[in-house]
Amino acid sequence: MRHVDELIARMTLDEKIGQLNMITANFVITGPTIAGDSTEGIRAGLIGNMLNLWGAEAAHAVQKLAVEESRLGIPLLLGFDTVHGQRTIFPIGPAEAGIFDEQIWESTARQAAIEAAEDGLNMVFAPMLDIARDPRWGRLAEGPGEDTYVAQRIGSAKVRGFQGSDLSAAESVVATVKHFCAYGAPTAGREYASVDISERTLREVYLPPFEAAVKAGAAAIMPAFNDVAGIPMTAHRYLLRNVLRGELGFEGVLVSDYNAIAELLNHGVAADLAEAAALALKAGVDIDMMANAYSKGLPEALRRGLVSMPEIDASVRRVLSLKERLGLFDDPFRRGRKVSLTVSGDSPSRALARDVARHSIVLLKNDGLLPLTMERRRIALLGPLADARSEMNGPWSAAGQASDPVTILEGLSSALPDCDIICEQGVSLSEEDRSAIPLALEAARSADIVILAVGEGARMSGEAASRSSPGLPGCQQEFVDAVLDLGKPTIVLLSAGRPLLISSIVERASAVMATWWLGTEAGNAIADILVGRFNPSGRLSVTWPRELGQVPIFYAQRPSGRPANTDDHYTSKYLDIDVTPLFPFGYGLSYGNFTVENLRLESGSVPVDGQIIMSVDVVNNGGVPGEETIFLFLRDPVASVARPLLELKRFAKARPAPGERSTVRMTLPVSDLAFPGLDLTCAVEPGEFEVCVGTSADPKQLLRTRFRVTSGGGDQISHS
Ligand code: GLC
Repeated sequence: MRHVDELIARMTLDEKIGQLNMITANFVITGPTIAGDSTEGIRAGLIGNMLNLWGAEAAHAVQKLAVEESRLGIPLLLGFDTVHGQRTIFPIGPAEAGIFDEQIWESTARQAAIEAAEDGLNMVFAPMLDIARDPRWGRLAEGPGEDTYVAQRIGSAKVRGFQGSDLSAAESVVATVKHFCAYGAPTAGREYASVDISERTLREVYLPPFEAAVKAGAAAIMPAFNDVAGIPMTAHRYLLRNVLRGELGFEGVLVSDYNAIAELLNHGVAADLAEAAALALKAGVDIDMMANAYSKGLPEALRRGLVSMPEIDASVRRVLSLKERLGLFDDPFRRGRKVSLTVSGDSPSRALARDVARHSIVLLKNDGLLPLTMERRRIALLGPLADARSEMNGPWSAAGQASDPVTILEGLSSALPDCDIICEQGVSLSEEDRSAIPLALEAARSADIVILAVGEGARMSGEAASRSSPGLPGCQQEFVDAVLDLGKPTIVLLSAGRPLLISSIVERASAVMATWWLGTEAGNAIADILVGRFNPSGRLSVTWPRELGQVPIFYAQRPSGRPANTDDHYTSKYLDIDVTPLFPFGYGLSYGNFTVENLRLESGSVPVDGQIIMSVDVVNNGGVPGEETIFLFLRDPVASVARPLLELKRFAKARPAPGERSTVRMTLPVSDLAFPGLDLTCAVEPGEFEVCVGTSADPKQLLRTRFRVTSGGGDQISHS
């Protein structure tokens, strides 16, 4: 990058720091502070990067200002939170994760990249790979669910989708993988709270998704707001330099989270902005997002000898190199060809949005009422989300327009044109106003079938949206109970950014569907499932708790010395509820009926450099075509460190025609069995292992068989 070094040689200190500065444009507010007009800062070379601005005209205007009116004409990075779509909005993280299909995960990122680039952007703050096992935490709504392996696969797929094969291409954008790391394990599920986990858990659970994203070529990473065991991630030199850049080989740009460098003072590790700036720069954070800590603190830190010019130059070099890789120096206006982006009714992106949304829906219960037949009937569609439009975009809706989504009422009316659909809100999302309940109950009494569209508001999950009791907000539960008391066939549609506490509803409703937040085509996708135009295949990417007291709850728990046993008092259980979840990871019903049988391995003994090849048969006993997801879990019953009861290592699809049988074959290199041993060094420990295969993490339905890894002359300890 000779051009970069020549540029650095010409830059003043202010211009260098300008390249490490990212200021918000306030098209949307995504943080606690907002900026004024950045024109002068860009013209003076003091602002080298922007966020929260989109649209080809606005993007070209601000690039033109930087390129033509600043001394060195360095183009800007333009970043935005394109988390689950740019203008076409796809299902939120945990919903899309529940599709368990890497091609779909990549396709939505690719479409989002195309639309973001058309909007003039060259960087997105996505994918969000924060594993979450606590539904109190609002940002579960943005991430990959609870599982490390799923998060790894999503990370790779999203980086491929956003960045494509050539980062300089007009439709490629920088993937900024976030938030590094363990942000999803805050104390008490409270947003931005301290995270205190062992390095072992960090390496087993939270690092692998970022390792996968780095291997896929992630060009940027965003450290998380939280501390890990007392060291804020924004200043965590060991995890950012030694582990992320050293062990994982990340060579890209680190972009702080919004105002996070200044917040090192609140963390209590810096006395002023100079110290905060020095801590962040020495940890390897290249860009200061919206704290003005580098612009205000680095000159002073340099004077105090807290940082050196070579350290500043190293960050400037990474930022300029990224701009060069994006092709910005060749053509700063390459992105933003299409001036206005419309998501018209028949656009291909809407078709993709509808298909992905249909795949994301999880059927949690069905007593046979679904799918609805097309016969003429009176349907009462009730609840605060029955005709809600903008809510369907969910949190982080980027440039998604409030007017774009298809409502549930619209989808249902279009799918059942001969039915008489009465729509009543009954209650609001969160107010304690019961005045409209009688009218809604009247509608229910007059109907043949009731459909309840309940759940959270879009801003009740996502950032800064922890909930201490994640049940139905407001007086919705009371309303649902009153409707269920009528004894009518009742379907409950749950829209939320987290698994809600719904045990009583599941007991009493005829059918329950988790519809998460499905985006632009929400109403049509939901109707497609309700009327059987699509056989539901979505699965849970998170374990669904019975009660909050079970949280954090996830399938990959370590064993207890006294495993739960209801017949034995002194075992790991609760006195008041069953220890099992309401629904396990991977759970989901379809309108079909599949059985999984005949698990077999090609060999019962493999060397450490070998691979396990397993096959299993899936039979479609139902009368309809459909899709089953097969999970391959591993159990290491004896090792130098207690291993999780189950660890997901592969997933695959089976689509046998009605009455047919198909065989799923999965291959697992023994190297994938490696884990951080006693000294935290990753290694395979030869010995006996168990393959557990099934359609969810429910241990009762798993097929199991064993194999042995032979040491093959290696020096690892062998555990039988
Ligand atoms: C927010 C979020 C982060 C986002 C950034 C810019 O605070 O934590 O995910 O990318 O600020 O909006």
